[in-house]
Amino acid sequence: MAARGRFITLEGSEGVGKSTNLARVVAFLEARGLEVVQTREPGGTPRAEAIRRLLLDPAEQEPLDQDAELLLVFAARAQHLARVIRPALARGAWVVCDRFTDATFAYQGGGRGIPAARIAELERFVQQGLSPDLTLLLDMPIEAARERVARRGEAPDRFERERGDFFSAVRQAYLARAAADHERFAVVDASRTLSAVGEQIEGLLEARVAAWQS
Ligand SMILES: Nc1ncnc2c1ncn2[C@@H]1O[C@H](COP(=O)(O)OP(=O)(O)OP(=O)(O)O)[C@@H](O)[C@H]1O
Ligand SMILES: [Mg+2]
Repeated sequence: MAARGRFITLEGSEGVGKSTNLARVVAFLEARGLEVVQTREPGGTPRAEAIRRLLLDPAEQEPLDQDAELLLVFAARAQHLARVIRPALARGAWVVCDRFTDATFAYQGGGRGIPAARIAELERFVQQGLSPDLTLLLDMPIEAARERVARRGEAPDRFERERGDFFSAVRQAYLARAAADHERFAVVDASRTLSAVGEQIEGLLEARVAAWQS
């Protein structure tokens, strides 16, 4: 039987370069002959992507209650775990996911102010002890990241419409989680050039993959 695959997540506020660097992580692992499943949250399955649309839709006629938001995030996660992540890990594939539960602690916890203990309850219920093996936290000043998002030129989603203090709280919540778990997290300075960020990520992966396979 194949060894269980590894679960790697990319985290950080909007515009820090998660999606851009995810491709590099996937290419790095595939070049080592590993089966890689590339996915994202919220979403990753057709039904979970439908929940993503509910979460991101900026429609203003009905505000989204913050507890409803939290439960939708975990509903999408339960579906994603059941249909994609757990089966992939079980057959020995590696899963690389653009955002996961640290984003819930950062956005719904730090940003919205929902107590971390409540989020942790849902985490236990939905994940049953499963958590990422490695989390790359891409960190940079909020303003520069928002400029990158603006340059991307897409209509802002419901989260991107939040004010600056929301994003400061998100960033601080991410950094606090990383500081509390040096084993799982690696913090990457995402303000540098794309090639500098990519090289640091490859170096981190090189070390981790070697340690896991020894
Ligand atoms: N190191 C970098 N230097 C300059 N521009 C970058 C860098 N990394 C990414 N970008 C650009 O910044 C924009 C945001 O990057 P990307 O979409 O990967 O961020 P993201 O973290 O996935 O954002 P979101 O949370 O909104 O999905 C893109 O246009 C991307 O090409
Ligand atoms: Mg992205």
